Amino acid sequence: MSNISIEKINEIRNSVDIVDVISRYLNVVKKGKNYFAICPFHNDTNPSLSISREKQIYKCFVCGEGGNVITFIQKYKKIPYLDALKEVALIGGIELDIKSNAKHEVINPKIQVLYDILEDATKYYQTALSSSQVALDYVNQRELNSDVLHEFRIGYSLDDTKIIKYLKSKKYSEEDMIRSGLVIETESGVLKDRFANRLIFPIQDLQGRIVAFSGRIIEKSDMAKYINSPETEIFIKGNTLYHYHSALNSIKKSKKVYICEGFMDVIALFKANVSNAIALMGTAFTKEHLKTIRFLGVDVVLSLDGDFAGKTATRKLATVLENENIKISIVSDYEDVKDADEYFNKYGANKLLLKVQNPITFFEFNINEMKNNPLLENFEERKKFANQMCHYLASKDDIEIDYYVNRLALELKFSKQTLLNLIKKEKQANPTEVVPSNYVTNKRLLKRNEKYKSEIIFQMLQSNEAIDEFNKEDVYYSMPDDYYRQLAMYILDYYLENNEINEADLYSYISNLNPNDDEILKTLTQVISSHNENESTYNKDYFHRLIYYIKEIMTLEQRIDQLKEKLAYTSDNKEVGNIANEIFRLSQELKQKSYNFKK
Ligand code: CTP
Ligand code: MN
Repeated sequence: MSNISIEKINEIRNSVDIVDVISRYLNVVKKGKNYFAICPFHNDTNPSLSISREKQIYKCFVCGEGGNVITFIQKYKKIPYLDALKEVALIGGIELDIKSNAKHEVINPKIQVLYDILEDATKYYQTALSSSQVALDYVNQRELNSDVLHEFRIGYSLDDTKIIKYLKSKKYSEEDMIRSGLVIETESGVLKDRFANRLIFPIQDLQGRIVAFSGRIIEKSDMAKYINSPETEIFIKGNTLYHYHSALNSIKKSKKVYICEGFMDVIALFKANVSNAIALMGTAFTKEHLKTIRFLGVDVVLSLDGDFAGKTATRKLATVLENENIKISIVSDYEDVKDADEYFNKYGANKLLLKVQNPITFFEFNINEMKNNPLLENFEERKKFANQMCHYLASKDDIEIDYYVNRLALELKFSKQTLLNLIKKEKQANPTEVVPSNYVTNKRLLKRNEKYKSEIIFQMLQSNEAIDEFNKEDVYYSMPDDYYRQLAMYILDYYLENNEINEADLYSYISNLNPNDDEILKTLTQVISSHNENESTYNKDYFHRLIYYIKEIMTLEQRIDQLKEKLAYTSDNKEVGNIANEIFRLSQELKQKSYNFKK
């Protein structure tokens, strides 16, 4: 984020007129209320770039580019956002001093103190580790030598109170200790170390600052194995990747990143001399994670756990990353153990190294999964799987297709020619599209869902009342986690700060918070241009029907999809029965709700 205030940005944007500025670069003609030009962002022949003087935004009806005057300069000249801002300021005659911006970000002292507390606490915990025999026994048993302890800054919390006394001696206030997430206040008002008697894994943000801890129990107990800091002003779990900052050099050098589930897996790889590994801290992969990985521009090796959750996450991640054209491979499975750490313990560093250096392709992964899937004894299932795989293969090159089709024919017992025909058909149907592998929601449904999400956001742009309703009904929490959801959040935040929506300023607001990401802006442009301006303004009845659709129907569809996916990989008969019953029950419910919706 830049440290220029949004007010300043709006002032700069308002100092010029978008039609005048774009006219400096393109031949602009007036048609009715709007202005048009040949779109410079795609191979345009008819003027399809529309510019609105009233709204101070532009959008292309063909390629979907859109934004305000600052985004225009940025995209047209292919320069960074801040440079574009400078140019516009220059045109508008607004003074703008952003020399001091780059390296030394000025940090609010109220926030800086949180970083300081966690940094001091880390040092304290590190020292405490070497004074505790139980902790030392534990780290020895898990083969965490001094190199590892040092690299990962692992520590130990001796008890409930020592860290608090220490932080007090350094003049930190109780309030700040609580805000940092490190200390909890009990009902009786006593302060306690959240991580008492746990091994401490400091968690750093992408810039390498410690923003949270995770604590692992070291003795058998029925307490949670790991507990984490809550989300705080400086810690958002979904933005964080464990060991990212420290691994960065090695990632860039090797042009490769390993993605693991847990701390101990990253550490196991480190012990096997693989220092370009990071962890998701669980299996959830967020849009922020995707952004970070995409930005790296390196190949990804997925090395998640071999259990059901790990396999499911692997399939999802592989699909998402391939769709972004990121090259992936998969450390297939850790044989008779669950994860990289256990593999290290059982087979040693050399074998782990060998394993992670020989990952398999996503296609192989799917074939392996299929072999373990008892449903595929069934002809219909085999046919479905063949169709899905051919769908997937249609995006590959001829040599890959040749190789994989042989494999597929052998495993599925269909003829090679039949499979090749299927692939050919797929190619004709979707000439260039990269197709996700399997078990994705069907396309028609996706289109309908897109339409309703787009509609709800369009109405929010049209009317404050819609935003109030959206807020009051907590729709945000039921929306699927995608760009529409993020866009809705920005609109809500923007509205709460400004009490009204100005589309051109909204563009600045979003780019300012997300300088490296275009997707939310593209979604915004899409919403704006897929609706006719004089079309529907806010209609309360309709809006509530849309809310109903998102909260009731979309959520149910998602649940059913998840269960179907689970079903495909469950082998226990009783469990299969239970899941099937649940799917049936939810489908009935869905029917009823869809009926209510159409009424
Ligand atoms: N995790 C978490 N919160 C939890 C449980 C797990 O954040 N309540 C994250 C941690 O980052 C952990 C990862 O999920 O490292 C994987 O969890 P799990 O597979 O249960 O742990 P292991 O890596 O096997 O840990 P260990 O080897 O210490 O038992
Ligand atoms: Mn483990």
